[in-house]
Amino acid sequence: MSGLTKNYIGGRWVDASTGQTFEARNPADTDELVGVVVKSAKTDVDWAVAAAQSAYRSWRLFPAPKRGEILFRAGELLLKRKQQLGELETREMGKVLAETLGDVQEAIDMAYYMAGEGRRLSGETIPSELPDKDSKSMRVPLGVCGLITPWNFPIAIPAWKIMPALVSGNTVVFKPSSPTSLAASKLVEILEEAGLPKGVLNLVHGRGEEMGEYLATHPGIDGVSFTGSTAVGEKLAARCIELGKKVSCEMGGKNAIIVMDDANLDLAVEGAVWGGFGTTGQRCTAASRVVVHKDVYESFLDMFTRAAKKLKLGNGLHKGTDVGPVINRVQMEKVLSYVEIGSKEGAKLLTGGKAYLKGACARGYFIEPTVFSDVTSGMRIAREEIFGPVVSVLKARDLEDAIAIVNDTKYGLVSSLYTQDVNKSAIAERELDTGIVYINASTIGAEIQLPFGGTKKSGIGYREAGGRGGALDMFTKWKVVYRDYSGKLQKAQIDR
Ligand code: UN1
Repeated sequence: MSGLTKNYIGGRWVDASTGQTFEARNPADTDELVGVVVKSAKTDVDWAVAAAQSAYRSWRLFPAPKRGEILFRAGELLLKRKQQLGELETREMGKVLAETLGDVQEAIDMAYYMAGEGRRLSGETIPSELPDKDSKSMRVPLGVCGLITPWNFPIAIPAWKIMPALVSGNTVVFKPSSPTSLAASKLVEILEEAGLPKGVLNLVHGRGEEMGEYLATHPGIDGVSFTGSTAVGEKLAARCIELGKKVSCEMGGKNAIIVMDDANLDLAVEGAVWGGFGTTGQRCTAASRVVVHKDVYESFLDMFTRAAKKLKLGNGLHKGTDVGPVINRVQMEKVLSYVEIGSKEGAKLLTGGKAYLKGACARGYFIEPTVFSDVTSGMRIAREEIFGPVVSVLKARDLEDAIAIVNDTKYGLVSSLYTQDVNKSAIAERELDTGIVYINASTIGAEIQLPFGGTKKSGIGYREAGGRGGALDMFTKWKVVYRDYSGKLQKAQIDR
């Protein structure tokens, strides 16, 4: 066990105003205490916002390339500590080590990418219609940003938000999800060590929605970026819009893989296993539905069920573990309740469906990889985000039918199509109403140099990550400057 995990405010590691703490326990073995974390209250958020406001005065004027250099150094430190960080994440939230190492890698990728943005952050110079006048657009920071992150990507998602926010010249108050407070603290420690001036990044630990809402609606906060459930995100976004704050929410998904009759079935099965059960199904990008062409439906089900049965549950640090636990008891009960719902709705349970508490898994939150067949679009297991190792398989007549099934949900984050036919691929790319479409690849594994996010109830506001239309659009606003050096009054639209 490490020492007390504290808040980081104004460049100092401090206790919370409440004097209270909470425990972080390993979801694979709740006997293991991973750490003890300070439990903050509204006063701590007030302090953090004040520190960020005061640091903003000089940080916004700090040259962007130099901000980028700090991020680059953070990337180097993350790389050096990748193994340690991965192990800590696995102990704190359960996903297998290969995946937590991937999570850290995603933060490293983001650090290097956003470090480069420090020397880019470009606007445009555009000719004026008048002589001796020039005009340009430029990105300017918002001010203080409140960042609220989930536990399923304890380092990557905070990095997605913190790094573009900082390189753009904002200061930050960061509220990570309480189950992954330790990993969040390690990321902040690294950014501190990389040379961030005091108060530029502040961290407040605490439990519950209330803290997040207090931060998001705080009068000192100018921009809010949230990743989490659709229910919370919609509420938060509505409040922020009311208060005139810039806001972006990355929310739920009910992502689907289409398997066509001409697909390479082995590849499709591998993709469905990886998308459905990777991270124990706890990704917003998880493939919780598979829509299979009628001619290969039976063979797909047979192969997929066999593959799901082979997965080994266990502690993510142990060699040979394929699937870790879910995050906590509440989530375990929620997932199991969906198994009951699915069975009652008439879906056929092909494998799994139970808690797995055998041997070394006895003190953890393990659920057997679960496959339902005969699922139809109207069923709740085909519509609601379960966030656990439960995959619903649906049958489609043809591509058109499959696309209609995929689009028949309130979410629109990711979809995927397995086919060998270039024409089918082109039609699917055009018709699938999701922010991300994969062809012959699973639904998980988005790369940081492209915009990340979804349509419909999967996202409000701006895309995350890189590329045109990515996170910089969230964390900057446009300013346009016209400069007239003619020495006389010139009238646009009128002097012709
Ligand atoms: C999430 O599940 O919230 O594409 C993010 C992926 C990862 C990010 C997932 N790169 O699955």
